Amino acid sequence: MTALGWVRAVVAYLDVAATTRVDPRVAEVVLHWMTEDFGNAGSRTHEYGARAKKAVQQARTFLAGTVGAKPEELIFTSGATESNNIALLGMAPYGEKSGRKHIITSAIEHKAVIEPLLHLKEAKGFEVDFLEPGPSGRVSKEAVLEKLRPDTLLVSLMHVNNETGVIQPVAELAEVLRKTPTFLHVDAAQGYGKVPQDLTAPIDLISISGHKVGAPKGVGALVTRRRGWDKAPLEPIMFGGGQERKLRPGTLPVPLIMGLYEAAKDFQENRSRWERDARRMREELLAALGRTRFQINGDVEHSVPHILNVTFDGLNAEALIVRIKDQVAVATGSACTSASYTPSHVLTAMGLPDDVATNGLRFSWFPSQVADFDPDELAATVAYMQPHAT
Ligand SMILES: Cc1ncc(COP(=O)(O)O)c(C=O)c1O
Repeated sequence: MTALGWVRAVVAYLDVAATTRVDPRVAEVVLHWMTEDFGNAGSRTHEYGARAKKAVQQARTFLAGTVGAKPEELIFTSGATESNNIALLGMAPYGEKSGRKHIITSAIEHKAVIEPLLHLKEAKGFEVDFLEPGPSGRVSKEAVLEKLRPDTLLVSLMHVNNETGVIQPVAELAEVLRKTPTFLHVDAAQGYGKVPQDLTAPIDLISISGHKVGAPKGVGALVTRRRGWDKAPLEPIMFGGGQERKLRPGTLPVPLIMGLYEAAKDFQENRSRWERDARRMREELLAALGRTRFQINGDVEHSVPHILNVTFDGLNAEALIVRIKDQVAVATGSACTSASYTPSHVLTAMGLPDDVATNGLRFSWFPSQVADFDPDELAATVAYMQPHAT
């Protein structure tokens, strides 16, 4: 029993797409920058401030380097939601001034992209094309390019879908768009650190979230990469002390930034082992599920190795979650909408029928954070609950 009266149970954690555990080593770094070196990176008159400023610069240089950008091209934010808002809403004034008010995106984006774009559509008269990917869950480069027009300001396409794990062709798209006046924004909340080679492509704007790679919640980044002398003409959506090139004013959360730095370094160092182990876990899970009747939602061949979305024939996903909640923590679709029973907007946009889209289950894992998971036990429960085939 903990102080709050919770009984600590070892529930296998298969929901890293919602958030990850902060490694105690990373937490120690955060604690250090809270309790020892606690200065404000903006304080110019003493050693505390100087030390914080230097540390932030080191973190900035490293993190920018992971996507092939320069330190001055990265600003710290509170996470991918804020980065998406700064990128999308921040481009709007330029679109209005230049008469380029067309935006292309996909219908499988996270709400943190869909909602700001709907705002631009409804409040500012932008025209937004929401592309549907079909059952593979992958939006094709050709489908995007087909919609491209002279007045297309921006393409916003996510890196890795948070419900299916399907990797979108952002690198290929970047190579083509770089030769046009259209800017590319990529919400890389789920892909950052995991498919690093894609993000070194010439993408103009990249949103990063810390808590999907073992950093604390509440920190992230926005990369604004230059095109030669040119860069995405962002205008601020918030005003204050002028920090972060005036695009994200506010006192820098040095402990969180240092936590992000440490977690990203760890992830980079251990990525090949992480990938191998995550792949092996996916094989074991799929092998165990072989005794049940299920379909995989999305193209596994183009997926990250640690996210799998399945629908079990005739089985209500919520009922299964309740049944296994003391053993396994999983999610239906996006965490932000999991309180409601509406079909997943991602699975619906893939053209899947309502019953399949409502009952999609997302398994997502870091092999080192799973604790006690027995895929055979899960498969046995599912098989027991599944209606017998007639
Ligand atoms: C694809 C995607 N974009 C954006 C977000 C929001 O990220 P943050 O929690 O850092 O604001 C998430 C988080 O679930 C996500 O999966």
